[in-house]
Amino acid sequence: MRAEIDAVVPSGDVSAEDIDKQRLTRAVFYEAMRLYPPAPQMVCDCVADANVAGIEVKKGMTITIPIYALHRNPNFWDQPNAFIPKRFLDPEIFAKQNRFRYLPFGGGARVCLRQAFVMVEVVTMLAQIVRTFTIKDATEGEIEFETGAALRAKGGIFLKFSQR
Ligand code: HEM
Repeated sequence: MRAEIDAVVPSGDVSAEDIDKQRLTRAVFYEAMRLYPPAPQMVCDCVADANVAGIEVKKGMTITIPIYALHRNPNFWDQPNAFIPKRFLDPEIFAKQNRFRYLPFGGGARVCLRQAFVMVEVVTMLAQIVRTFTIKDATEGEIEFETGAALRAKGGIFLKFSQR
């Protein structure tokens, strides 16, 4: 990712074309959202009886969609617990194979309204941070996660930044 950022946006503002060219940076973000989805589950209230893929769902039921578990299901993902950004390098193949298996932003009619904006924001920030600093993990011990409405690191994650 650092090599890509150094080649595409070594300095100055990050343009829309630069973001298109940062394929690996985008893939790193997608893979991080697969392993650590900020919304680890969605809870939906059923407003009508329905049949969802052969399962009868009744009006009034509450359904939980386990995003975190879907993202690590070995039936859908090769080496599900490994960080392999390259699996996201081809967005079209990815979208075809993973419809409703990859849901960091939800899906369907209520999908996150700012999904595209978040991608632009994150890729721009990553370019500016990565080209300026070398970052090392400075967390003591193992990083543990806890979940409520959002997934977060228990006690935080500590990083050491040094100027490149
Ligand atoms: C990494 C950042 C973000 C993640 C992971 C995320 C994730 C999600 C998810 C999973 C949902 C679906 C919730 C559900 O159906 O229960 C959602 C909906 C939504 N998000 Fe985001 N979101 C992010 C950033 C943002 C930002 C920056 C905004 C606005 C500035 C935003 C606005 C919304 C709105 C308005 C909805 C509701 C859409 C609807 O119900 O029609 N999100 N988001």
